[in-house]
Amino acid sequence: MKVVAINGSPRNGGNVSQCLDIMAKEFVREGIEFEVLQPGPRVHPCMACYHCLEKGTLHCVQNDDMVNEIIDKCIEADGIILASPVYHGAIAGSMKCVMDRVMLAAGCGENQFHHKVGAAFCTLRRSGGMETYQQLLGIMDAMEMVIVTSDYWGAVHGADPGEAMQDIEGTEVVAKLARNIAWMVKVIDAAKGKIDPPETHKRTFTNFIR
Ligand SMILES: Cc1cc2nc3c(=O)[nH]c(=O)nc-3n(C[C@H](O)[C@H](O)[C@H](O)COP(=O)(O)O)c2cc1C
Repeated sequence: MKVVAINGSPRNGGNVSQCLDIMAKEFVREGIEFEVLQPGPRVHPCMACYHCLEKGTLHCVQNDDMVNEIIDKCIEADGIILASPVYHGAIAGSMKCVMDRVMLAAGCGENQFHHKVGAAFCTLRRSGGMETYQQLLGIMDAMEMVIVTSDYWGAVHGADPGEAMQDIEGTEVVAKLARNIAWMVKVIDAAKGKIDPPETHKRTFTNFIR
């Protein structure tokens, strides 16, 4: 069983990374494999060419950043964590670029993410935590994922790298989130061959026009 996290921060070793380190310790304890995927700041935006959807490639035509590797690892994983710093009240720009391309290529046609476990959190200096947390959850909400929560909203406070570790409540929230993810991944795995997942099929796109 494996969980991957997409760290949308452009900086290494920052607050998002340190929160993911806390989660990593929980996954080790729970016997769950865990990998952090951090694409960094040089990520292309979606070009809206729709090649991925029209050809069903499950990959983006832009091949010179980490997005296709992220897609492959997300498809393989049992659980996916979306983590981003708050930038101007929303997810970081590079995270948005990643999400647009991952979800269009592998989520919007033959959805590769349905029934996978999903969870999210953000880090921030002061404001915009709820909006950003909900933005991340909303992406998975449209992918038929099993969303796992903690005992408070996923927003950990800290500005400079390491400050988030002083947010005791926030760090407890992400640790509990990791334990809940591990539990749900194990529950779904244990049900394999006993309780079938519900039937699902490709969505009918209607675009509000005839
Ligand atoms: C461009 C930019 C915009 C930001 N906007 C916000 C914001 O709207 N609200 C907030 O509380 N913090 C904001 N911050 C602070 C970051 O969210 C905060 O430092 C976060 O913990 C960084 O995570 P990292 O260390 O993993 O990169 C912003 C930082 C940058 C660089």
